[in-house]
Amino acid sequence: MSELLQIKNLSKIYKTAGGSLSVRKSSVSALEDVSFSVSQGQTLGIVGESGCGKSTLGRVISRLDTPSAGEIIYKGENIAGKSLSAMRPLRKSIQFIFQDPYASLNPRRQIGAIVEEPLRINGVSKEERRSQAQALLERVGLDKGSYEKYPHEFSGGQRQRVVIARALTLKPELIIADEPVSALDVSIQAQVLNLFKELQEELGLTYIFIAHDLGVVRHISDRIAVMYLGRIVEIGSVEEIYSDPKHPYTKALLSANPRIGENGASSRQILVGDIPSPLNRPSGCSFHTRCPIAKPECAINSPALRDIRGVDVACDLIS
Ligand SMILES: Nc1ncnc2c1ncn2[C@@H]1O[C@H](COP(=O)(O)OP(=O)(O)OP(=O)(O)O)[C@@H](O)[C@H]1O
Ligand code: SF4
Ligand SMILES: [Mg+2]
Repeated sequence: MSELLQIKNLSKIYKTAGGSLSVRKSSVSALEDVSFSVSQGQTLGIVGESGCGKSTLGRVISRLDTPSAGEIIYKGENIAGKSLSAMRPLRKSIQFIFQDPYASLNPRRQIGAIVEEPLRINGVSKEERRSQAQALLERVGLDKGSYEKYPHEFSGGQRQRVVIARALTLKPELIIADEPVSALDVSIQAQVLNLFKELQEELGLTYIFIAHDLGVVRHISDRIAVMYLGRIVEIGSVEEIYSDPKHPYTKALLSANPRIGENGASSRQILVGDIPSPLNRPSGCSFHTRCPIAKPECAINSPALRDIRGVDVACDLIS
């Protein structure tokens, strides 16, 4: 299977004001040395607590934001340093879906006009736009009458279907979906996840699927990357991650979710303390302040990802 996307040593540092009375700038390291690849037609799920850098990663890969360092090899070409104008032809191919289907649709525009917008910008004729938009709305499970309606006339799940239809208008190859179902009821989440899966099989799409919850990405992903404070701490196949999680943080995330925690009561690991601020990152292994098995040396040494029984894990104390 060929690799559509390869991320190499990607970092993103945001400069922020140092505080209301300070003129000094400080910096937030939102991504640190992130590397992975995604094969054509596959899904990489990205999971981690709030603030760990999931959205930053999605935005940087789709070049809605610029990386501070590293490479983004998309279809064999490094797009990390491309200018906005040089990125324009690639915008069709890489689509980004935002979390909130309410905020991402203009309430004053009819659904047909919203879905057609990317086609209009690309010079497609009016008749062709209409027929393509209607076919797409039907494909995502909305009836023909939806074309004339406004966003407020739809439920959250239906709106997310509209967002998906719009993302598909330019026939993308890679879709980066940033928590696309977290604003929806659990029963509706399953329907929208099924739609993502069907479209992937039908159109050969490649997904990067971001979620807080390991439960959400389980059935849609082929591989999972678990992030903590801007770094990947474990990455591997769905089977390995859910049946034999290795990093203490992955174990804790699974333990916190009784619906999917399969790693047994004996290995239950509960997280203590709050997530540290990326402005004040702990030394050594940045998970050491919350890790149930940390040793003193964990505050000094920063573990790199290494292969443990077929999964890449960033922890020096497990084997
Ligand atoms: N434009 C920005 N300027 C400064 N800091 C930022 C910016 N965007 C993100 N950050 C910081 O980078 C870190 C990662 O943020 P990000 O939004 O990527 O996290 P996340 O994992 O998507 O969180 P959530 O689950 O809450 O959506 C956070 O500390 C955040 O405050
Ligand atoms: S290196 Fe130490 S603190 Fe980090 S995950 Fe492993 S045991 Fe925990
Ligand atoms: Mg986010």
